[in-house]
Amino acid sequence: MKETNRATFTSKIGMIAAAAGSAVGLGNIWRFPSMTADGGGAVFILVYIGCVLFFGIPVMVAEFIIGRSSKANTTGAFHILAPNTSWKWVGRLGVLTGFVIMGFYMVVCGWTLEYIWQSVSGKLATVTDFSANFAALQQDHLKQTLLMTGFAALTLLFTLSGVRKGVEKSSKIFMPTLFLLLILLGIRSVTLPGAINGLEFLFKPNMEHVKSTVFLDAMGQAFFSLSLGMGCMITYGSYFSDSSNLTKTAIQVSVLDMFVAILAGIVIFPSAFALTSNPDTILDDLINGGPGLLFITLPQLFNEIPLSMLWSSLFFILLAIAAITSTISLLEVVTIYIQEEYKRTRHESAVLVAIGVLVLGTVSSFSPKFFGLLDSVSAEWMLPIGGFFISLFVGWYLDEKLVYAQLTNEGKEKFGIKFLKGYRFILKYLAPLAILAIFVYGLIG
Ligand code: PFF
Repeated sequence: MKETNRATFTSKIGMIAAAAGSAVGLGNIWRFPSMTADGGGAVFILVYIGCVLFFGIPVMVAEFIIGRSSKANTTGAFHILAPNTSWKWVGRLGVLTGFVIMGFYMVVCGWTLEYIWQSVSGKLATVTDFSANFAALQQDHLKQTLLMTGFAALTLLFTLSGVRKGVEKSSKIFMPTLFLLLILLGIRSVTLPGAINGLEFLFKPNMEHVKSTVFLDAMGQAFFSLSLGMGCMITYGSYFSDSSNLTKTAIQVSVLDMFVAILAGIVIFPSAFALTSNPDTILDDLINGGPGLLFITLPQLFNEIPLSMLWSSLFFILLAIAAITSTISLLEVVTIYIQEEYKRTRHESAVLVAIGVLVLGTVSSFSPKFFGLLDSVSAEWMLPIGGFFISLFVGWYLDEKLVYAQLTNEGKEKFGIKFLKGYRFILKYLAPLAILAIFVYGLIG
């Protein structure tokens, strides 16, 4: 399985950009705001930040260790590091999770294409009822399938152009563009009169709207947003060079990812509060917005400000960019698994997976219930279960010397050494127990 001339990322920046490109996506800009609205604002965000620090970063380092030391795909990595054991099922669960996530993620990707079109063509500027506009799209199944197919074809294009050219180059351009656009929109949002109420909702803890599932939701969101628990970072770690510092990279990627999510919140909530025509029901509207929050609330905002077409075109292009660097990584996990485990060509594997995703995506575009099920089962259960076993694998199973060598690059990296002491303890006890506790609380809470 071990290939000597396997591709690696060519530069440090490229490596961070690719991993961050996977992490930063619809999870930050579409899912995070709707989870935050649903979870009651600041309290959800605090728990979410705790989850990122507490298990997000350690599990990301664990995935990098597995990937870089095995230089193989998600299941291949377990074959190599733990031959003839059941650990390979963790890899297989990851591949399945990737497939399930794409089954609803592609639908939202399709929506972003439609909203780019509506923005650029000026149609969005003429809409008066934004809920009805979004509902019309949701009811047009043929259109949704076509849009999804378009997005999947774009993703395939990148995937088939190979690791270096496709993933790395595209991420290097897309990521900085994304930050810039979000910051611009954030400035626009917080300078609107009345924006302060939205900022308060985001940053001032208020127990009134907090739900009993807040821990489960925030943990799922952390795993989802950081692309953890399904081996995506194992696959990307397998492309890392031997001199890269895994701990530093994980911290940089996670902080960047959190930053983008909170920025997205700053774009959405202050503007939603500032521009609503129903200040009394704005909270309920936000909470009930569900998957449509972004596509209903934001166009409303754009229509209220000068140069609306420009702002909304920028925003939805940005969203599509964020989404494609994530779908590239999702497709990569499943594609390289089929390629390496079933000895298929890259082309065949990627096309096969894309067709499967389109079938699943079409079903979820027909049924919001099925869509919601794929979303919550994958994020709140499958990813954390994957993360649980990945923690145990690196904490208990992997040879201690290998873990230390990976963390410190054979003793050369000081940064890894500092992190070492507490790291195994977190992976052995803290992270798995906390994940278990959250599951139990989620089931009975
Ligand atoms: N992290 C991506 C997002 O926030 O949109 C979604 C994702 C990508 C989840 C890759 C899992 C994954 F392996």
